Amino acid sequence: MAEVHVMNHPLIVHKLSLMRDKYTGAKEFREAVEEISSLLCYEATRDLPLKEVEIETPIARTTVRYISGKKLAVVCILRAGLGMVDGVLDLIPNAKIGHIGMYRDPDTMQPVEYYCKLPTDIANRDVILVDPMMATGGSANVAIQFLKNYGVQHIKFMCILAVPESIAAIQEEHPDVEIYCASIDEKLNEKGYIIPGLGDAGDRLFGTK
Ligand code: PRP
Ligand code: URA
Repeated sequence: MAEVHVMNHPLIVHKLSLMRDKYTGAKEFREAVEEISSLLCYEATRDLPLKEVEIETPIARTTVRYISGKKLAVVCILRAGLGMVDGVLDLIPNAKIGHIGMYRDPDTMQPVEYYCKLPTDIANRDVILVDPMMATGGSANVAIQFLKNYGVQHIKFMCILAVPESIAAIQEEHPDVEIYCASIDEKLNEKGYIIPGLGDAGDRLFGTK
């Protein structure tokens, strides 16, 4: 079973606390999503391979290590995943970007897919899939399956909030996918919202409510 990384670093905990506060406005909310995404990405890229290269410093010849040209893509689940993309690109600016459009039907809580545009060579890339909220885990599970159908072999899923049942749902369907999150909250309410959570991430990011 792939690991679940819960990043309870003080910087992340602080920024997540700002996000949870219902009085935090869209600008500050967006900034916190982006910053937390960078910090999660720092951890999610810890195992990137390095290659040795000989260089000269101003003083001497030496061997240094560079990231070894691993092909990466960041794929976001629309809408809310868009808010995480820039934070990832801050650290891996050459990653290609894919979009999977999906919304959760408010009555059935089932994900409904409406858009997909992925880099043409996605099958040759390791993918960091991003969506701030993993509630039932339905949207993430469908998006992961989608990527696998395109031939993607290595997927890491980065979210900000999860709950025990969504972690279990991913682990059951996709035990190979490592999960990186800022918090595992308590549970879902009867409408499928995370408790205590932070509300509707898409609406808070884009000011649509
Ligand atoms: C939210 C969130 C996830 C999904 C999580 O998106 O960004 O994609 O819900 O729920 P699940 O784990 O139960 O599937 P939403 O459906 O609100 O769409 P939006 O981002 O366009 O607002
Ligand atoms: N989607 C959200 O944006 N928030 C939740 O709490 C659950 C799903």
